[in-house]
Amino acid sequence: MSTDYYHQSVLAKEVLQYLEPKKNQDFIDCTLGGGGHTGLILEQTKPNGRVLAFERDQTAIQASKKKLVKDLDRLFIVNSSYTDLKTVWPKYEKKMPNLQGILLDLGLSSDQLDKANRGFSFKDQGPLDMRFDDKQQTLTASDIILEWPEDKLNKIFWEYGEEKKARALTKGIIKNRSSWMKSRVPGLKQKQKFITTAMFVSAILQILKIKETSLARFRVHPATKVFQALRIAVNDELSNVASILPQALEILPVGGRLAVISFHSLEDRIVKNYFKSLLKTCICPKSAPVCTCESIARAKILTAKGIRPSAEEVKNNYRSRSATLRVIAKL
Ligand SMILES: C[S@@+](CC[C@H](N)C(=O)[O-])C[C@H]1O[C@@H](n2cnc3c(N)ncnc32)[C@H](O)[C@@H]1O
Repeated sequence: MSTDYYHQSVLAKEVLQYLEPKKNQDFIDCTLGGGGHTGLILEQTKPNGRVLAFERDQTAIQASKKKLVKDLDRLFIVNSSYTDLKTVWPKYEKKMPNLQGILLDLGLSSDQLDKANRGFSFKDQGPLDMRFDDKQQTLTASDIILEWPEDKLNKIFWEYGEEKKARALTKGIIKNRSSWMKSRVPGLKQKQKFITTAMFVSAILQILKIKETSLARFRVHPATKVFQALRIAVNDELSNVASILPQALEILPVGGRLAVISFHSLEDRIVKNYFKSLLKTCICPKSAPVCTCESIARAKILTAKGIRPSAEEVKNNYRSRSATLRVIAKL
């Protein structure tokens, strides 16, 4: 297993600026990836600050361990979803009495995107997989395409991909999918129960009546939105984001900070709305004659507009272009 991870951490300077890690402070990184942000935090929190990190992907964990080998005594890695935070935290809270901040860097790493055998990219030939954790998760993108009923497929293309041609794509897939299972997968054993990224991309082009030779006309590849929808569905990404935010707030001490980097509007909307909901001073129904909820603001928003990468960062790392960082401090 190769452990040479090359993912470049996005908005790294800004994450440090807002989380303000200092000597001997503790942090939680919900999305360890290649250990980029965690490494920077460990550096700032020397000599005794600790990081508890979650990561679903074992390849990423191996890469991080290699990268952060000097600091492994201060790094606790949990190979499960960050949505387990509240269950896992009691095992670590005594070892991390100085918790100051929690980071979520959502989505996938460049390494995952670029490895053909992970099936995230429409540019490669590999099984249409897309699981972040290919050891413990069972549902693959291929299973969704080959087995899910029409209404569910249409819903994910429409809602998670915001794909205007969702209906046509769904109909085309349902019509053709039984033949895909019988067809020979190039380079793989016959009668596999999955389709490849390349087969799926050519099916999408066929359904949308787009010739391979005319692809250069498209600013964004016609398969982009469907691939995004499948990845979100396979990994339950939107419900995971909705689940982690209140858990993180609950665990943080007063003054502690929660920083979230998202890469598309669906995730960012969840983060933005949740953060706004914490500002509400009253949650009584509008019809109530007097306030009975005694609700007080639970956080202060530190990034009114959301922080975007600088032009220089986008130039150096094109994949950072869609990132937005939002940060709150617990009150
Ligand atoms: C954008 S990368 C993080 C990169 C990292 N911040 C760095 O600087 O190297 C996102 C990572 O989150 C992981 N991930 C996605 N969903 C997760 C979840 N629910 N629980 C834990 N890890 C998750 C992915 O496997 C991926 O490695």
